[in-house]
Amino acid sequence: MWVADTEFPAPKPILAALQKTVDHGVFGYELPTPALKETVAARMDKLYKWKVKPESVVATTGIVSGFNIAARIACSPKKGVLMQTPVYNEFHEIKNNAGVAQLNAPLIKRVVGNIISYEIDWDIFEKQVKKVGMFLLCNPHNPLGIVFSRKDLLKMAELCIKNNVLIVSDEIHSEVLLADNSFTPLAKLSAEIAKHTITLVSPSKTFNIAGLFCGFAIIPNEELRKRFELEVSHLTMYVSSMGLIASQAAFSGKCDGWLKEMNRYLTGNRDFMVDYITKYMPNVRTTIPVATYLGWLDFTQTAVKDDPFNFFLNNAKVAFSDGKIFGKEGEGHVRINFGTSRALLKQGLDKIRNTLDSQ
Ligand SMILES: Cc1ncc(COP(=O)(O)O)c(C=O)c1O
Repeated sequence: MWVADTEFPAPKPILAALQKTVDHGVFGYELPTPALKETVAARMDKLYKWKVKPESVVATTGIVSGFNIAARIACSPKKGVLMQTPVYNEFHEIKNNAGVAQLNAPLIKRVVGNIISYEIDWDIFEKQVKKVGMFLLCNPHNPLGIVFSRKDLLKMAELCIKNNVLIVSDEIHSEVLLADNSFTPLAKLSAEIAKHTITLVSPSKTFNIAGLFCGFAIIPNEELRKRFELEVSHLTMYVSSMGLIASQAAFSGKCDGWLKEMNRYLTGNRDFMVDYITKYMPNVRTTIPVATYLGWLDFTQTAVKDDPFNFFLNNAKVAFSDGKIFGKEGEGHVRINFGTSRALLKQGLDKIRNTLDSQ
């Protein structure tokens, strides 16, 4: 229940597109076609009425590559990258990968009963944003499952622009929406924000094709895009043909019925998980994610608060992601991946409940 991909086979139109290529049998070099860039732009229009020019789309070997490249452009050892912790572990690697400083603006945790939620600490954000070259937003947020409100997005963007800070918006989970939640890309909010933003999107989480390593940076600002593309070419980071082919099929619209069904199933899993924890493990606190298939469990009120990750790995044979890899705020927490069958989710939860009870 750890690494963030699901256990659902990719939808048939993607498998068929890949199969057709396999049958063709020629796997020569490929570049992203104009048709693919048009497909990405058309998807933004279809989902959000966000008008993106196809030439603003740059293919990358994934979202992690995308934000590391952005950090190389916008940051320096002194002007670092700002992030809202606890946050996706790869964000924490940028400082080493790109040799830049990391600054955090930890989110504030609120507790009601056994339900936890997080919100922005504006004082800290405002203080930290003055010292960085880039703000890396995770929206929807991994591991907290938050979709930031329009009001919050506008305020974050305004502070970044005021301080001449590049905004990089990692929106990899934007189509994994639970219940009736909706999503708006940050860059759609205004032309001014779009000019200062690199938006990173990908079909990889949504359609379970992460291992094909293909993502897209949407960069309306031409000067910024040229710098980004130059860095991509310096690093010779070209996307494999299978990744390009799968992405074209994924974003074509042919998989949207499958996606609707997956999101409905995941919503059921989320509700099952939150109910189970509230009923049988009331000392364990949980988020109620509105997006992603990731839950965030807080064991700080239990006997295993010091190291729940190793405790459950060793005693329950259940592997979560250790909360500490998302930042020091994650101590005593784990991330749970519920992108699996209800039966397996129940089995995992039963195991942690029984192991906790035996403490
Ligand atoms: C927020 C976020 N960004 C990026 C990634 C990985 O992206 P990629 O595999 O395209 O590099 C993940 C994977 O878990 C993620 O959760």
